[in-house]
Amino acid sequence: VITVPEVGSLFDAPADVPDSADARRRELAVLATQVKGCDRCPELFSTRTQTVFGVGPVSPELCFVGEAPGADEDRLGEPFVGAAGQLLNKIIAAMGLTRDEVYICNTLKCRPPKNRDPKPDETANCRGYFERQVELVRPKFLCCLGGVAAKSVLNTTSGIMKLRGRFHEYKGIPVMCTFHPAALLRNPDWKRDTWEDMKTLLRRMGRPVPGK
Ligand code: URA
Ligand code: URA
Repeated sequence: VITVPEVGSLFDAPADVPDSADARRRELAVLATQVKGCDRCPELFSTRTQTVFGVGPVSPELCFVGEAPGADEDRLGEPFVGAAGQLLNKIIAAMGLTRDEVYICNTLKCRPPKNRDPKPDETANCRGYFERQVELVRPKFLCCLGGVAAKSVLNTTSGIMKLRGRFHEYKGIPVMCTFHPAALLRNPDWKRDTWEDMKTLLRRMGRPVPGK
């Protein structure tokens, strides 16, 4: 009997993660190319301008994980470059970090039309890319932005109000969850809670907490 590997077998292969940063950078580039050619979600494939893989260094202290690219990200090919991204940049700066030293990605690599929520099969189709990406980036901490990202990363049905402000775990990596910056633009009252979440994260990271 000849067994033909399934399309999905790429994701099931035993994780072979090179230790050297250079090798992980190279494998990330290969993964980004695979994502670029992905046609698993017919609707996203046919409506996207381009895929949005992620940006930042390997082995960062922190990786922010959003939901999915929006219109600006779809146009420019980089996560969090629109209005929500401008606010994320302020949060990063307030934390005493720079955008260059953190990794930023989304659970979904394509823009859902009209920014609708990702469908369960789309989340499932993209999951392997995200898992491999995090394996290769190897961040010390993850921060999920918003309920959709948090639910997807933590594989839970709990909402952001329940998940935020405390640590969870993804494959041995400590995970903080907080509000999505786009939600903060609509609900400025939540900025205070977001800052509390970021201070909790900084403390656990062993970093100075600005203005504490
Ligand atoms: N919202 C997200 O969740 N991700 C982006 O990249 C931009 C906006
Ligand atoms: N709902 C979400 O999914 N995320 C938020 O940040 C707030 C409400």
